[in-house]
Amino acid sequence: MKIVVIGGSGLIGSRVVTQLRQRGHEVLAASPSTGVNTVTGEGLKEAFTGTDVVVDVANSPSFESAAALAFFEAAGRNIFAAEKAAGVKLHVALSVVGTERLLEFGYFGAKLAQERAVENSGVPYTIVRATQFFEFVGGIAQEATQGQTVRVSPAKFQPMAADDVAAAVADAALAPAQGMVEVAGPESFQMDQLIRKYLSAKNDRKDVITDPDARYFGIKLNDRSLTPDTGARLGTITFDEWLRRDQTTAAA
Ligand SMILES: NC(=O)c1ccc[n+]([C@@H]2O[C@H](COP(=O)([O-])OP(=O)(O)OC[C@H]3O[C@@H](n4cnc5c(N)ncnc54)[C@H](OP(=O)(O)O)[C@@H]3O)[C@@H](O)[C@H]2O)c1
Repeated sequence: MKIVVIGGSGLIGSRVVTQLRQRGHEVLAASPSTGVNTVTGEGLKEAFTGTDVVVDVANSPSFESAAALAFFEAAGRNIFAAEKAAGVKLHVALSVVGTERLLEFGYFGAKLAQERAVENSGVPYTIVRATQFFEFVGGIAQEATQGQTVRVSPAKFQPMAADDVAAAVADAALAPAQGMVEVAGPESFQMDQLIRKYLSAKNDRKDVITDPDARYFGIKLNDRSLTPDTGARLGTITFDEWLRRDQTTAAA
């Protein structure tokens, strides 16, 4: 089966490409660096010729709300026109658990628009909504840092390893269209506790303050904001296991 992975050079995309190739499929990693640009439409027709499944795990280069919206709107228009012309049978997109609960940060409005475009495209689809990646935990800490203090909400969240996200996306690409599905990590944490654990593992001595009013990228969190519904598929890689692998990779 021929599968095109848009964003195939990214954190998740590169893993999806590897996993699908290991399972014996013909996979094209598509991104501007390989001559495929979803915003301009460049290279889409050629990439989609003879393609059964398109996986879209690209991301907007800017997280600013208007720029991200423009990115996902243009990408949606170009991708679905090209998919219909090529007779693509399944579209798989990657989104975020709780997107509609996170609209205080404009980027999530853009992700919601991306989801709507998928749902209204007329192409059979699976939208995989994932929780925060372990690889993103350092970014959460950084965004919450002022000087030597990191102010973080104790709200629950259930992050997961990029390898587990990629496995879920690869499985979705090989299954019939499922509509919307959710994936999450194997364990639930309070965000402040996980940030403390992460910084400690990195020998970072910043002071983590637990603050229920601390914002997450401008969003006021509660225990429901970032957590999946019951029935979500759970990954298998724990945070401790991910930290061990991360430290081994860093040492190599
Ligand atoms: N961060 C999280 O915790 C989280 C949680 C759930 C879901 N997600 C979602 O996961 C998705 C993937 O994130 P990621 O971290 O893997 O992204 P990433 O590492 O930043 O990779 C982005 C990819 O998009 C490609 N791209 C950028 N502009 C493009 C364009 N005009 N046309 C085609 N491809 C383009 C890039 O290609 P080049 O390398 O050629 O520039 C790259 O391959 C995102 O949609 C995000 O919303 C993230």
